[in-house]
Amino acid sequence: AYTAKPFVPDHGTLDDLRRAAAGCRGCPLHRPATQTVFGTGNTHARVMLVGEQPGDQEDRQGKPFVGPAGKLLDRALAEAGVDPADTYVTNAVKHFKFTQAEPRKRRIHKSPSLREMTACGPWLAAELALVEPELIVVLGATAGKALLGSSFRVGQVRGTVLEEEIHGRPERLVPTVHPSSVLRADDREQAYQGLVADLKVAARALG
Ligand code: URA
Repeated sequence: AYTAKPFVPDHGTLDDLRRAAAGCRGCPLHRPATQTVFGTGNTHARVMLVGEQPGDQEDRQGKPFVGPAGKLLDRALAEAGVDPADTYVTNAVKHFKFTQAEPRKRRIHKSPSLREMTACGPWLAAELALVEPELIVVLGATAGKALLGSSFRVGQVRGTVLEEEIHGRPERLVPTVHPSSVLRADDREQAYQGLVADLKVAARALG
């Protein structure tokens, strides 16, 4: 089975993890991708935000949520009253998965498979063990499935505080939609307000 496990150091800092993750060969996604996109933010962050996987911009720049979805997420977090200094931002899968009709053509995002999410799980577990956030904000279905299992449905639990055991630790989680889905929605304003409302639940849960 694909797994990142042999690449994950069993102790060290977030920077140690980031350096090790740059060389991860735990699944085939590293081959076409430009680089590993590891999480960023404060080791002492109160909130961990978990997305799906890096997109085109993230793959080029090497940082999560720096493209259009990230801009929207930053705006929504500010509006909900979540301080960016309190956040650690990462993805369930650390490499960009895409299709490309021809070289130099646009790279089109592809959803990661359950195998790829599972393979990448040891990185997320290591991030959680180091950051020990008070709350996890689950951004969309892929992150939800990676953290809570394949039966996760975002529509059923969004905007609520869940208490679940994740990688052997009790965690509080607030699921919401993925910011990319807001960009694709027919009624963008309504979808955006829904995201902000869910993030306000997270802000309130932090106190
Ligand atoms: N979408 C994600 O899920 N993560 C990113 O880092 C960027 C876009």
